[in-house]
Amino acid sequence: MTAHRPLSGRTALITGGSRGIGAAGAGALAAMGATVIVTYRSARAAADDLARRLQSEHEVPVHAVPFDLTAPETAPESAGGLIEAVARITTGVDILVANAAAPYPRAPLLELPAQQLAAKVGQDIAATHRLVTALALGMLERGYGRMILIGSLHAEGPCAPGMTANGVSKAALAAYARYAADELTGPGVTVNVVHPGYVATEASSHLPPAIPTALAALTPSGRTGAPDDIAGVIGMLTRDEAAFLNGACIPVAGGLNQPVAFRRLNL
Ligand SMILES: NC(=O)c1ccc[n+]([C@@H]2O[C@H](COP(=O)([O-])OP(=O)(O)OC[C@H]3O[C@@H](n4cnc5c(N)ncnc54)[C@H](OP(=O)(O)O)[C@@H]3O)[C@@H](O)[C@H]2O)c1
Repeated sequence: MTAHRPLSGRTALITGGSRGIGAAGAGALAAMGATVIVTYRSARAAADDLARRLQSEHEVPVHAVPFDLTAPETAPESAGGLIEAVARITTGVDILVANAAAPYPRAPLLELPAQQLAAKVGQDIAATHRLVTALALGMLERGYGRMILIGSLHAEGPCAPGMTANGVSKAALAAYARYAADELTGPGVTVNVVHPGYVATEASSHLPPAIPTALAALTPSGRTGAPDDIAGVIGMLTRDEAAFLNGACIPVAGGLNQPVAFRRLNL
């Protein structure tokens, strides 16, 4: 282990790593010397390209494997299938970045189908639970582990129009992390939630440009987030110096640490 490659000898699993925040997180951990496993749902070519690029830039092994958290339990791309695929690559995952999230309908509360609300929360939490419980004991045995769950400021409100399913699921994730930190961590092993504010990615590209512009003006740091802003915090959480930061929800939003009530912005 060296000062600038502190993750040398460690393995990181990053779900939803083919683009956006997950891909940036994979880059940060590869740069720190970790062997990296990224998952993709549909963009296999993008994930393979990323793996090749990180491998050549940082001289670490990088693997791309399929994972779809909406897949039925018996499917090879389910959480169970992912755990089996990972076991064929490595004897132990030291860092889990649970970044992938299920799709959700953007709908006013009165038009949100109960079944789709339940599916979003169920798929996000079930996949997180499967990965956390499959990996935590190995981390405890080895005395080092970082479980980093990617939440959202929407977990904490005020509320963004049409985002009920996402906000409820991310709030459930934050509650889940508190229980996981209580039961499944110990010296050297932590679980924390990173709550990004608005980050320019494909997932946020549907928003009208007036929203990021207004958010930048409201943000103490004077801009909105980029995937690398979240990746930097993911990297920070893996450091030995962060071993006592446990069970926390960390807003990463340039100081705009509560989402604004979009409804009142009159955009
Ligand atoms: N962007 C924001 O403003 C923002 C703010 C707060 C929180 N977040 C959270 O940050 C995380 C990443 O978001 P992002 O903006 O980086 O998204 P993104 O750019 O759209 O990337 C999504 C990633 O997840 C994968 N994915 C999509 N559906 C999946 C599924 N059903 N099962 C497994 N993987 C799936 C995609 O794979 P393919 O490319 O192969 O389809 C891709 O790698 C999410 O948890 C999101 O809720 C984002």
